[in-house]
Amino acid sequence: MTDQLYMKMNDGYKIPVVGLGTWKSEPGEATYKAVLDSINAGYRHIDTARAYDNEADVGRAVQDADINRKDLFITTKLWNRHQGYDEAIEACEKSLARLGCDYIDLYLIHWPLKDKRNESWRALIELQKKGLCRSIGVSNFTIDNLKELEDKFEVIPAANQVEFHPYHYQKDLLEYCNSKNIIIEAYSPLVHAKRMDEERLVAISEEIGKTPAQILIRWAMQRGMVVLPKSVNEGRIVENFSVFDFEISDSLMKRLDNLDERYVTCWDPHNPPDYAPV
Ligand SMILES: NC(=O)c1ccc[n+]([C@@H]2O[C@H](COP(=O)([O-])OP(=O)(O)OC[C@H]3O[C@@H](n4cnc5c(N)ncnc54)[C@H](OP(=O)(O)O)[C@@H]3O)[C@@H](O)[C@H]2O)c1
Repeated sequence: MTDQLYMKMNDGYKIPVVGLGTWKSEPGEATYKAVLDSINAGYRHIDTARAYDNEADVGRAVQDADINRKDLFITTKLWNRHQGYDEAIEACEKSLARLGCDYIDLYLIHWPLKDKRNESWRALIELQKKGLCRSIGVSNFTIDNLKELEDKFEVIPAANQVEFHPYHYQKDLLEYCNSKNIIIEAYSPLVHAKRMDEERLVAISEEIGKTPAQILIRWAMQRGMVVLPKSVNEGRIVENFSVFDFEISDSLMKRLDNLDERYVTCWDPHNPPDYAPV
């Protein structure tokens, strides 16, 4: 069981396979409580971002939790309006201050902003050298975006955080990242709760005797990804972490693969390619 709890990244650091998502977790008590509940449930990985406006609440919960900082894995992200070399260095320092930490486990470029992503990546490499970030990575990067970084820099991302679930099975991207030893972190792994009643998913969930959410999380784990389910509900936080004691058979995994309909719940880096909120 223990070996399922972590994956190893291409820089040697290990990353807990299931992390708590916090997008749309209300700043203040809701985020603070969700993070504490998750740590009590066994999570060791919290995913936040500057853009979620809740880094300070994550930081407060991490400090109040009955666990050493070094046993937790905290991810945050560089927001679009702070991209660029100097801006990224400053944004990282500010995120650290809000989190109340002296390092970030994984710092990601939130979006592949066309004119700024390369300078932002150069800054992340520098932040890693300074020890302010242990691992560095990207989010919403396409295969072409990744290739561009590989051509220009010696350091490649440790992870690429993208939307990933059976209804949006990005097999090419997964295979490409596997070939480069870049971990895919599956975001919106619960399809943003928009397919919980979908009959083919419900049928598989009944066959296995686990909830639709647990099936979706376990599918991503068995396809070799880190998974980031979000909840602010204590019962669901526990449910979403209860995924280490069963396995989905090959034939049911294939049935889940076949749910793919390119269903994007969040933002689509392919369409249009240069669009990004600021
Ligand atoms: N890098 C990026 O651009 C990006 C984009 C999107 C997401 N993310 C990250 O990935 C995380 C997860 O993605 P997400 O928040 O979009 O969606 P998600 O995790 O797929 O779904 C979250 C929704 O599912 C509900 N839910 C949670 N557990 C459930 C369960 N067991 N049964 C039924 N419903 C359940 C939640 O409600 P309750 O909270 O009320 O339980 C919430 O409405 C984010 O929080 C964020 O950390 C990153």
